[in-house]
Amino acid sequence: MQQQMLPPPQSKFNDIKEILMTAIAVTTRYETIKVKPVTPLIGAEIDGIDLTKSLEPQQVAEVRQALLDHLVIFFRDQPLTLEQHKRFGRYFGELHVHPNTTGPEGHPEILPIHADHNTVRIAGDRWHSDVSCDAEPPLGSILHLQVLPEHGGDTLFSNTYAAYEALSPGLQTYLQGLTATHDGEQVYRSRNRGKGIDDRDRVYPKSSHPIVRTHPESGRKGLFVNSNFTTHIDNVSREESAAILDFLYRHLAKPDFQVRFRWQPDSIAFWDNRSAQHLAVWDYYPQVRSGYRVTVKGDKPF
Ligand code: SIN
Repeated sequence: MQQQMLPPPQSKFNDIKEILMTAIAVTTRYETIKVKPVTPLIGAEIDGIDLTKSLEPQQVAEVRQALLDHLVIFFRDQPLTLEQHKRFGRYFGELHVHPNTTGPEGHPEILPIHADHNTVRIAGDRWHSDVSCDAEPPLGSILHLQVLPEHGGDTLFSNTYAAYEALSPGLQTYLQGLTATHDGEQVYRSRNRGKGIDDRDRVYPKSSHPIVRTHPESGRKGLFVNSNFTTHIDNVSREESAAILDFLYRHLAKPDFQVRFRWQPDSIAFWDNRSAQHLAVWDYYPQVRSGYRVTVKGDKPF
């Protein structure tokens, strides 16, 4: 007997239709690059572009569009020198200098990302948006890894628009009136202690940002708190702040909003810190994982 297929519930069906139509609209927009989404919500592999060469304005515009559409974009087989890496970053804005970690000689805008058997704690092992303690946190970050462990060392990315949109209207309204404090102190001081660096004379950035951030280019709203830098919600009790932040961190970390990137030597991930958070998985100790990050300056969240 032939089994009768029930149609999917109307709301689910509409969601899927909407996602597919967006995906079709997105994939027909590119002429100079190939953009292959990894999940419907976040992440795309970019092909047909050589980042070791200087780029044409249309290529830059399409890479920027792909970043806006997919929040994190991945490139393979891009053996960039430090100069080529910085040149690629400068197509998207001025380069950021990290408040805690110094770059290689002559390259203050380069952030080394390195872990080996001597590492006590890696950078980025908690969900975060890069340097969100800055008054004007970075727009985006471009990580080029050259040495990878045999297995593991993936990076996870989460879509903060989708996380916000999945909240109930009542909670969205409550959060929209609030700001939270992001403090570099709690991240960098302990990391330096672990490395035996005396940083008593340093003062780290500390800023207050809206919990619901409007992306300056897409106009979409997303959650802008993270377990690495955010210390508390301003102007509410400590208990209320802790309970709400705990809920938001667990919500943001749901697999539904995520993509997981498997690196190869000379892969690049370029993420938008205004609409995505990320976390580096340290499951490869004592192996080496190493490369460089270029970070593009951003603007004051609103
Ligand atoms: C970072 O937070 O920039 C590090 C990400 C990674 O190592 O995958």
